[in-house]
Amino acid sequence: MRLLDVQNLYKSYDGSSFAVNNLSFEMEDKDFIVLLGLSGSGKSTLLRCINRLIEPTRGDVRYKGESIIALKGKDLRHYRRNIAMVFQQFNLIKNLSVLTNVLTGRLGYHGIGSAYGKAEISSAMHNLERVGLQDFAQKQVKQLSGGQQQRVAIARALMQEPRIILADEPVASLDPATADSIMQYLAEINQEGIAVICSLHFLSLARRYGTRVLALKDGIKAFEGLPSQIDRLRFKEIYGEEAEEI
Ligand SMILES: Nc1ncnc2c1ncn2[C@@H]1O[C@H](COP(=O)(O)OP(=O)(O)O)[C@@H](O)[C@H]1O
Ligand SMILES: [Mg+2]
Repeated sequence: MRLLDVQNLYKSYDGSSFAVNNLSFEMEDKDFIVLLGLSGSGKSTLLRCINRLIEPTRGDVRYKGESIIALKGKDLRHYRRNIAMVFQQFNLIKNLSVLTNVLTGRLGYHGIGSAYGKAEISSAMHNLERVGLQDFAQKQVKQLSGGQQQRVAIARALMQEPRIILADEPVASLDPATADSIMQYLAEINQEGIAVICSLHFLSLARRYGTRVLALKDGIKAFEGLPSQIDRLRFKEIYGEEAEEI
């Protein structure tokens, strides 16, 4: 059974134009899908439709064979535990400690009021170790570099015990070397069995880390296939005639 099955998905914000336009694709258990496309091509809209942060206008999203389009309340919360998000701007609480931020990844399991248990704290420490930040647990997030903050966000995502990580331009605010190291952490996590959809600007990173590429242009699928299949011609189809690869 497919982990994720997106079928003829449409999203319109204004009722006339489509930010995602008749998009279909499938994701297997081990996929690391890189989502490419110019700014405004619909990447964030697609990722948000997958975890129902926004409501698709039409079409279906199936998780392990079941439609998630009509889920509500408890069922929607339970579905969302499977899907963790990582954002360009990290979305951490800067005045709180690294450990506290990582623990907020458990909020989908118990309400805001209840305290974290010993098992959760030890799992948070384990996840900080996975991203090489075990010595930073008590530091305030604002004392960390951008790359370190994104690693905290990845550790927080892991606290959900997700099946899928949706990373929305996770390296767009980072310098190239730091960006590459963040991608390596995502690749390791993917190899440990978590499927990843990651939107990126740079084709070089897509080539290095993607097992598959999905490219959008004006909300429409412009390419789907292996990173190695993106030649000069395909590149121009995705980014436009004027674009040059850097
Ligand atoms: N909340 C919103 N309300 C109205 N239009 C939006 C909203 N979010 C995105 N859009 C529009 O949808 C299109 C796709 O945007 P987006 O999904 O953010 O693309 P990307 O992430 O690839 O930059 C753009 O035309 C954008 O202006
Ligand atoms: Mg975006």
